[in-house]
Amino acid sequence: MIIVSGIQPTGNPHLGNYLGAIRNWVLMQDALSAADQAFYFIADMHAITLWQDPRALGQATREIAATLMAAGVDPERVALFNQSRVREHAELAWILGCTARIGWLSRMTQFKEKSGKDREGASVGLYTYPVLQAADILLYKATHVPVGDDQKQHLELTRDIATKFNTDYARDLFVLPEPTIPPETPRVRSLRDGSAKMSKSDPSDMSRINLTDTVDDIRQKIKKAKTDPEPIPAAVADLAHRPEARNLIEIYATFAGKATVDVLAEFAGEGFGKFKPALAELIVEQLAPINERFRTLLAAPEQIDGALNRGADAARTRARETIAEVRDTVGFLG
Ligand code: ADP
Ligand code: TRP
Repeated sequence: MIIVSGIQPTGNPHLGNYLGAIRNWVLMQDALSAADQAFYFIADMHAITLWQDPRALGQATREIAATLMAAGVDPERVALFNQSRVREHAELAWILGCTARIGWLSRMTQFKEKSGKDREGASVGLYTYPVLQAADILLYKATHVPVGDDQKQHLELTRDIATKFNTDYARDLFVLPEPTIPPETPRVRSLRDGSAKMSKSDPSDMSRINLTDTVDDIRQKIKKAKTDPEPIPAAVADLAHRPEARNLIEIYATFAGKATVDVLAEFAGEGFGKFKPALAELIVEQLAPINERFRTLLAAPEQIDGALNRGADAARTRARETIAEVRDTVGFLG
């Protein structure tokens, strides 16, 4: 198994990022056997597809690294690095850009969302973003890529690019990666609106729980979270039309390591007045140690930078092997 995944250093990571991505990285890392390898990186090159303040990007990169380490990513067991430091990502992205077709990129929904109404004014990098993502993955010949649901389309594109490259050059060079979305991964909703996902781009901070929130923030946000006046039902099917209720129950279930139906059995018939404090305490219990380790790490930036340095060295070793094969395959001299 070769595991590869990336996360952008933009905005504060929140509970959605944690339950939808970071936690799975840690679970997959903990399940690695001696023959497996994992490459986890901070996608600083993807970040600049939208303008970033250069004075803030480095610190944001360090903070995401600290968050990952605080959440359990162990730089002794996986390669943890920032993408831009391994130049082979850029080199492979160029070559794969010559394999990917314009029509394929035009279908990417994330580009449509992020470019908004002013598509002509979006950066070329935002358009070719999925090609760089394909390079991130194929460079390490990843077999498994833990990502949230919203990244499935980019994974499909990665497979298409790999297949076309292998066919065009009649070589079995790239491995086709599988998206890995563990079944118990919830899609976390906004605390203010059960139809929207929890997101760092939501203007209301009350809509999300940040991994850096204090215990008081967490209690307040859960207390104020939108619900409905009905009591908690006994059957999962009865949550179908109650997105806010369902969201809170699912967050509880994921943190408690229980099935939704068992959480319902525990609270059926109760109002949210009783459930919310229990949920808040569960979240606090799980996030407080992460928060504490995060703060300790941030006070020792040299420890973070050292880990990123070692991670980049390890990643480069693997990346160079693939790039040498790719250069030979396309006919580049030297
Ligand atoms: P955001 O939407 O807050 O900007 P990103 O798009 O940077 O977050 O997502 C980073 C990772 O976190 C991705 O793997 C994504 O699938 C996951 N993720 C983001 N928001 C959620 C959510 N609300 N629930 C579950 N997973 C999420
Ligand atoms: N596009 C991903 C996101 O927004 C981040 C990412 C970049 C990534 N390169 C990757 C994820 C490679 C998995 C593999 O969440």
